[in-house]
Amino acid sequence: MNWNQLFARKNLNDLLADMKGDERLKRVLGPINLTSLGIGAVIGAGIFVTTGAAASEKAGPALMVSYTVAGLACIFAALCYAEFASMAPVAGSAYTYAYITMGELFAWIIGWDLVLEYAVGAATVANGWSGYFQSVLGKMNLHLPALFDKATVLYKDGHFESSGALFNLPAVVIVAIITMILVKGISESANFNALMVFIKVGTVVFVILVGAFYINPENWTPFAPYGWTGISFFGHPVAGQVDSAGNPVGVLAGAATIFFAYIGFDSVSTHAEEAKNPQRDVPIAIIASLVICTVLYIAVVAVLTGMVKYDQIDKDAGISSAFKHIGLPWAEIVISTAGVAGITSVLLVMMLSAPRVFLAMARDGLVPKAFFADVHPRFRTPWKSTIAVGIFVACLAGFLPIEELLHLTNIGTLFAFVIVCGAVLIMRYTNPNAERPFRCPLVPIVPILGILTCLMLMFSLPADSWWRLITWMGLGFVIYFGYGQRHSTLRVEASKTV
Ligand code: ALA
Repeated sequence: MNWNQLFARKNLNDLLADMKGDERLKRVLGPINLTSLGIGAVIGAGIFVTTGAAASEKAGPALMVSYTVAGLACIFAALCYAEFASMAPVAGSAYTYAYITMGELFAWIIGWDLVLEYAVGAATVANGWSGYFQSVLGKMNLHLPALFDKATVLYKDGHFESSGALFNLPAVVIVAIITMILVKGISESANFNALMVFIKVGTVVFVILVGAFYINPENWTPFAPYGWTGISFFGHPVAGQVDSAGNPVGVLAGAATIFFAYIGFDSVSTHAEEAKNPQRDVPIAIIASLVICTVLYIAVVAVLTGMVKYDQIDKDAGISSAFKHIGLPWAEIVISTAGVAGITSVLLVMMLSAPRVFLAMARDGLVPKAFFADVHPRFRTPWKSTIAVGIFVACLAGFLPIEELLHLTNIGTLFAFVIVCGAVLIMRYTNPNAERPFRCPLVPIVPILGILTCLMLMFSLPADSWWRLITWMGLGFVIYFGYGQRHSTLRVEASKTV
């Protein structure tokens, strides 16, 4: 094996030259549009669905602090992400940036990890969608048969057992519909996104403003019933309490769960090519969308835990049910309906992203081109990989419970953030003079804080999530060394010139 190839880097100039042939995108997006794109990709199942369970089982009212901690970890990572993205200002994801800056093996690791983030993340969102959708149906007195209303298995005391249902029908159906839409192709419309952002932010603001009148401050005591920490190392508690299944609970454990609510802000950097002034506006938009979401999230949790005692919060649709609890059933309907619409738009973004990562990897020869880079003659979309991803997401969403999917998405995304923060640090030493239109401030402090906070959150997740991440990455290495490394376009071209 040629070890040098593992660190072979793509040449940025070649890449830029290759892209000249493509139609360039119009530079039309300003800081406000970019921020709105970020918010559109972020607000979804995390706040609407997972907050209830996290407040009642992991952190209590102190979930407000959990949201602050997770928001901070994301801001450190976002600053690094922005520097990494600005060094290779071409359309693409962290995968492409890594190929140019750190070489093929790291690019593979990030690419494979991004597939996990988007595909398993999509399954998580689909599962959350199903919960909200069923609560809307419930308002109309419509109920699905118990065979189809939830995932096939549930996870209890360290093992999977049958839930009594065949599969989660609404989750599978919504994934199938979105897959069909994506195969046919959507022109990503700024207007559609603006409408979704309006609905979502409007709902969240509504929850805060109306809910504020129903706060009973006594519900905030005890404030941190599960403690302030919640770290374990492969299942061995290091700091804080654990629940009956041995999983960490506490403020940090809560932060590791609701971290999911922040995933998606990195999508802003994929629009760098369409930004009027990417060097200035992309970092501004990443930070602005994160700060806005953090503030909204903390306010929502303050209101939710003030309205309903933490141990009585509904675990599936906490926010909408809280309004039923206080005797405003009409508000519950409005929130559930808006929640369904908002969550659908996040699902669309996630299911759009996974095949795009495969497409980039296929063009480099790391996964089979004939399948993953096959663009439909009429629709001009990577249809085969979109369908393959759709089937994969539908299976996960139909069979597995939301908590397990969520933990796996979180650990995978946190791992990607650790690599990106590390890469910024390494590149400052190995390539000090490379052009950096956006420089992460306070290096090395910010990347180091990013690495430490993300690792801390990873350790606050259950041990099983680590084993699943390791299995996923192991599978990735088998594919890379069995296929990717042999078929890599860089390698094939290098061997031609010898
Ligand atoms: N942050 C996105 C959500 O909460 C993934 O749905």
